[in-house]
Order: sequence, then structure tokens, then C-alpha cells
Amino acid sequence: MLEFTLVEAHPDSSWALEAYHELDVAHTLEVFGEDLTMSVDRVRNYLLSQESGLHGLLLAVAGTVPASERLGRFGLPPAPEQPVPVLGAAQFTLPTADNQHLVDDLFLTVAATSRRRGVGTALLDQVCRIAEVSGRDTVLTWSEHLLAPATAALPQLTAPTGSGSVPVDGNVRFLQAKGFELAQVERQSRLVLPTPSGLLERLHAEAEAVAGRDYQVVSWRGEVPEEHLDAVAKLYQAMSSDAPVGDIDFRTENWDAERVREHDRRLLLTGDLIQTIALSRASGEVAGLTVLFVPEASPERPEQYTTVVLESHRGHRLGLWIKSANLKLMEDGFPQARYIDTWNADENGHMLAINTALGYRPHGATGGWQRRLG
Ligand SMILES: CC(C)(COP(=O)(O)OP(=O)(O)OC[C@H]1O[C@@H](n2cnc3c(N)ncnc32)[C@H](O)[C@@H]1OP(=O)(O)O)[C@@H](O)C(=O)NCCC(=O)NCCS
Repeated sequence: MLEFTLVEAHPDSSWALEAYHELDVAHTLEVFGEDLTMSVDRVRNYLLSQESGLHGLLLAVAGTVPASERLGRFGLPPAPEQPVPVLGAAQFTLPTADNQHLVDDLFLTVAATSRRRGVGTALLDQVCRIAEVSGRDTVLTWSEHLLAPATAALPQLTAPTGSGSVPVDGNVRFLQAKGFELAQVERQSRLVLPTPSGLLERLHAEAEAVAGRDYQVVSWRGEVPEEHLDAVAKLYQAMSSDAPVGDIDFRTENWDAERVREHDRRLLLTGDLIQTIALSRASGEVAGLTVLFVPEASPERPEQYTTVVLESHRGHRLGLWIKSANLKLMEDGFPQARYIDTWNADENGHMLAINTALGYRPHGATGGWQRRLG
């Protein structure tokens, strides 16, 4: 029998965070054939952040650990002071600003050599216990799949929306065995950089020709300027209510200026932000927003975050305009960037059309899985 103990990895346990990072590297190599992880510093920074939720990291460590009087906030002992082999991990978020019915963004991973021996089950059971004692009734997790001949050859499971599917691989079988249901499929698309010469300028000009009389775009690097904080908070809130979520029980988020400020400042600790908004010339209202993040540790793969246009301003090519402007700013500032991955609901035709025009191509599928507790 495999002997292991579940502990909580605190952000100050460097060896534990490094061991978790190694597991994560192995996972992304297994699924995608490349390292797509966040740096250890980013994981630490993420675990420390509390702007809208508590972030937990549980580890399954080999053997037993001495009883500790110092049980952590989830009722588990801390990771031992000296390194021990790590067999598996569960990272998750308990939202506190909204969506307090959820355990969000659960990511479970078990070392390939320790699978099918109950580690994943033990970690998940702990997460469900923590969910229940924290008053949460739904656990949300994601399964990742590369578009490749090997995954295409497997049976496919279609999203309840009817749009998008995931291959039924070992991870999917685990989630099904544990009572999770597929609630949505996101398409992972990749834009290979640099973009063809002149493409962004052409798309920018086309969009400006349609919208330029009524709108202007404003871009910057770094955090949202003070005068736009309230408006940007409104856009983040709109993103949470307007983007299609399939059967996922996401509820509208609560954003205010302070949350936007903290969100940006946290990200800026480990990278750079590039942001573009569209402003209505008539009212001065902020109509749309798009955000790119360039991690300091991996500037070759910038990350696309929120893109949203307020409902009352849709249909003027603002999405294409702000995205092409933001990408141009990023390419000019970070010539080492090699590609950007982005995730969109497979049923989100408008967003996907903009991304396709910019050169994004399907790269993977991500299943959104939900388990109701109780
Ligand atoms: C999914 C994962 C976490 C499962 O961890 P694990 O420790 O192997 O899981 P368990 O041993 O507790 O398995 C419990 C049950 O799930 C099912 N299961 C797990 N892996 C399976 C597989 N590859 N094929 C079919 N069924 C599987 C089985 O019913 C299993 O019970 P059994 O071994 O008695 O038949 C692990 O395979 C992994 O780390 N995958 C990569 C990370 C990932 O993609 N996670 C996705 C979820 S967030």
C-alpha cells in the first residue's frame, strides 16, 4: 500500500512550492509536450493574494509526518520543514468577494508513478471536506487536452451546450468516476508571434474606419490609471455576467476600483500589464477593455486576460480594434514573445471570430467540470 500524508503547503515553504512546480511541469509536458507553468514566484504570489479569494495548496507527501500542533486554516498539518517526496497536489480557490458557493479552479495532479493508488481520491476528498466546512456546495475543475491525432482517436464527450468536446482520457475518467459533470468546453487557441507584417495595422485601420467617429482607443503599460478605475471595475463585472458559461454555476462577480487596483498590483509583482480601452467620444464612457499580461519569468508566452465590450457598445468592431491595438503595443515592447494562448467558450462565436481574424488557431480543449456536494 502506498503510504502518504496530506499537508498544506504555505507560501513560505520554498521546497514545497518548488516540488509543486516540478509536478506541474511534468503535467504540462505530459499533456502539451511543453512547459506551460507559472514560475514558483508567481505561485507564491498567487497563494498570498487575498483580493477576491483564499488560495489553498494541499500536498500528498510520502510516508507519515510527525503530528503537528500547528494545524493550518484547512485543518491539515503544514508541509514538513525538510523536503520529502511529493506524490500529488491539489490547488484551489475559495472565492470571498462573490461566488461563495464555489470551490473554484481546483487543479489536481498526481505524479505519473503514483497514479491509480488513491492519491487523487484522497486529495479530492479533502477538498470536498474543506468545501463543506466552508459552506460551499459546488466544486469546479478543468481538464486540459491538446488537439492531436492521439486525442482525436479517443471517444469524445460533447459539452451540454452542444459546442466543443473533450477526449475521454484517463483524467476525464477520473472526474467521471468522482461524480463531476462536464458543464462547458473552452477552446484553447494559440497565436504564433510575431504576427505577419502589417496585419495588426490593417485590422486596426479597418476597425477604426467603422468605429473611429464615435470612439477612441487608449492604451498603457502597467496598472489602470486612477481616472478609469471605476469604469474598468464595471467592465470586469460585465465580463463575469456576459461571457457564456455553459452549465457552470458562475454568478456575477463584485468588482470595485479597489479590487481592480489590487488585481493589477498583484500581477505587476511578477510581470507587466498591457491594457487598452475604448472610450465613447460622446459620453466619455469606457466601452471596452482588453488586457495582456507578460510574465517576467516567461516573456516568450504572454497571456491574454479579459476582453469585454459593454453590451450597449457592441457591433462597432471595438473588440477587434482594442485587441489589435493592444497586441501591437505588446509586440513592440516584447520582441521575445513567441506565442499567446487564449481560452474562450466554444460557443462564443463573436470572440472566436475576432481571434481568428488576428491569427489565433485552435490548439486545445479545456473541459469545465462541476460536482455538486451534499
Ligand atoms: C486525474 C488524476 C489526478 C487521478 O489521480 P490518481 O491518484 O491516479 O486517482 P485515484 O487512484 O484516486 O483514482 C480513483 C479512480 O478514478 C478512476 N481513474 C483514475 N485514473 C484513471 C484512468 N487513467 N483511467 C480510468 N479511470 C481512472 C478510477 O475509477 C480510479 O479507481 P481505481 O483505480 O480503483 O479503478 C491523475 O491521473 C493526474 O494527475 N492526471 C494529470 C492531472 C490532471 O489532468 N488532472 C485533471 C483533473 S484537475
